[in-house]
Amino acid sequence: MKEKIQSYLQEIQASNYSSPADLEAFRIKYVGKKGIIPALFADFKLIPAEDRKEVGVLLNDLKQAVQTKLEEAKQMLDTADQQTESLTDLSLPVRRELGSRHPLSLVRNQIIEIFSRIGFTVEEGPEIEDDWHNFTALNFPEEHPARDMQDTFFIEKSPDIALRTHTSSVQVRIMENNQPPIRSIFPGRVFRNEAISARAHCIFHQVEGLYIDENVSFADLKQSLMYFAKEMFGENTGIRLRPSYFPFTEPSAEMDISCHICGGEGCNICKYSGWVEILGCGMVDPNVLENAGIDSDKYTGYAFGMGIERITMLKYQIKDLRLFFENDIRFLKQFESAI
Ligand code: PHE
Repeated sequence: MKEKIQSYLQEIQASNYSSPADLEAFRIKYVGKKGIIPALFADFKLIPAEDRKEVGVLLNDLKQAVQTKLEEAKQMLDTADQQTESLTDLSLPVRRELGSRHPLSLVRNQIIEIFSRIGFTVEEGPEIEDDWHNFTALNFPEEHPARDMQDTFFIEKSPDIALRTHTSSVQVRIMENNQPPIRSIFPGRVFRNEAISARAHCIFHQVEGLYIDENVSFADLKQSLMYFAKEMFGENTGIRLRPSYFPFTEPSAEMDISCHICGGEGCNICKYSGWVEILGCGMVDPNVLENAGIDSDKYTGYAFGMGIERITMLKYQIKDLRLFFENDIRFLKQFESAI
């Protein structure tokens, strides 16, 4: 019996199990009801008393060896399992983790696209401006409230330098460096010293438009803006121009579009008026043309400026401006399918 047990011990030590089924067969063979170990224990009762001690120790060693082998093999099979799991099926398609364009970029691109179709080029100007380009050349009187510290971020120690408060500053730069015909739009970031709320932010985006040539009239302005409104908000969109005032345009107007939510019936987006304001515009003031070195006897032109945030909020019915700057994935993900 001693020899038998010893040969089993060797067999166990040498064995290797590569599948759960093999391991289960091994378990049944040794410790199953009719297995080797229960049988040996049965035989144990029959051996002479003087051998019992020695055989008993061996028998316990054998039982222990089976137990250890079972545990070791099980652990090895489990880790092998986890490793193959992490490599499972390489033929499966990659998990789709696409980014999405920011809604402000989507709308900016759309505005650019619409105006390029009617011949506008795209230009840019600096975000840090001097007083001349942001105010003086644009006909802002010395005491105009927009120049006030309350509205404008000035650079410390230099009252001449500020963060631009509108993209109209680029009008001056383009006219200084080019002769008509000029037909461009300028998208960009602007800065105003405002408390952040659902409706205002100290940083926002505008798109400015400028068209200067001989015989440019207010009718041209109206046509271009009507084309833009219909392309942006749909064929049935109507426009309305209300007289307004800007130092750099004369005459000046603000443009409303018929509310695309209620179709003009009245809702809380248009505050039950049927109209929503989307931009400021007008004929470039002759003083501004002259300030930028363009002959105001020969040339006329129009300009307009719109807030990208405002257009985006109307288009996608976004109620809080702060969402644009928080970069919350749950907000941004909703624009994944938009192009
Ligand atoms: N610059 C003006 C603003 O910031 C908008 C505007 C641009 C108005 C061009 C008329 C012409 O509100």
